Amino acid sequence: MTPVWIMRQAGRFMSAYRQKRQVHSFIEMCKEPEIAAEITLLPVQRLDVDAAIIFADILLPLEGMGIGFSFTSHDGPIIHNPIRTSNQVKMLVIPQPEESLNYVLSAIKLVKRELGNDTPLIGFSGAPFTLASYLIEGGHSQNYLTTKMMMLKTPDIWDSLMTKLSKIILLYLEAQIKAGADVVQLFDSWAGCLSPYDYEKHVVPYNRTILNGLKRYKTPVINFATDNAGLLELMSKSGGDVIGVDWRISLDSAWKRIGYTKAIQGNLDPAVLFAPAVEIKKHVKTIIETTAGHNGHIFNLGHGVLPTTPESNVKALVDMVHELSER
Ligand code: CP3
Repeated sequence: MTPVWIMRQAGRFMSAYRQKRQVHSFIEMCKEPEIAAEITLLPVQRLDVDAAIIFADILLPLEGMGIGFSFTSHDGPIIHNPIRTSNQVKMLVIPQPEESLNYVLSAIKLVKRELGNDTPLIGFSGAPFTLASYLIEGGHSQNYLTTKMMMLKTPDIWDSLMTKLSKIILLYLEAQIKAGADVVQLFDSWAGCLSPYDYEKHVVPYNRTILNGLKRYKTPVINFATDNAGLLELMSKSGGDVIGVDWRISLDSAWKRIGYTKAIQGNLDPAVLFAPAVEIKKHVKTIIETTAGHNGHIFNLGHGVLPTTPESNVKALVDMVHELSER
């Protein structure tokens, strides 16, 4: 059977999550290991997914670096003083995750105690480019102009920021593995905004530092980016055991380009989960059929599940993947 989990599975589409969220802020839920562990387990208990992903956020490491930020309900996260100068980069702290992110590590330990060895727990971090884009832009961005101009106009500042971020991320992922994460995923959510040329020159070296640094743990690493159809060969070359792809490319053509020595994760369009069950099933079947003859497909959406997705459709999806991939 093809294993299936769903990016953002521990989130707002679940009524049990929304109930908790009425009582606590998002940050409170992340910082309270008991609550974070409980939310992490919800999708395993209710949706029958084959992996848990620790309930946290890619922006949590920012606090220990000395960056103030908040989550707004309308515009997503806001960074209070965006990073634009070499002095600001110098001021960034490289925190010890055992101190600044101990609550995530505690939640991982709690979840592992509950899950035992039956269901793997996925840890994660944002990748350097994606975190840098938040730090530089101050929030989500349309065109990533300020980020790209730091990269192209002041490559030395870019290099010092990306070097620092790769150190921070490697330490964080190592700490998650030591706490018990069975798999880790690098979320390079916005790297798809780059040309292959810039991705190779200004991003790959830093991702490679992280991916090479993790090799000695023998923990599988998922290297994920959205809109990455133009970057697949480069992503595959830079490392990771699994490459995550979105729906803008067919899974079989993506896998051919990644190479069958690596596993692949994806790639249902999250919007399809709003369609009638027959339509969802056709899409699932198409994806599963294209993997015939190859081992190493992890079913997932191509990006996070949308907050208004009907919960019953997500459960139906998980059941369909299991049923249609039974051999
Ligand atoms: O996958 C999971 O279920 C684990 C939890 C998880 C969250 N965020 C919880 C969350 C993970 C893996 C993330 C990663 C994340 N966070 C990414 C990369 C993943 C991706 O989708 O590409 C990014 C870009 C962020 C930054 C972030 N966090 C944004 C832009 C927002 C606000 C907009 C949005 O989509 O919600 C968040 C908040 C956030 N992170 C929520 C959750 C459950 C919603 C908080 C709430 O309850 O209001």
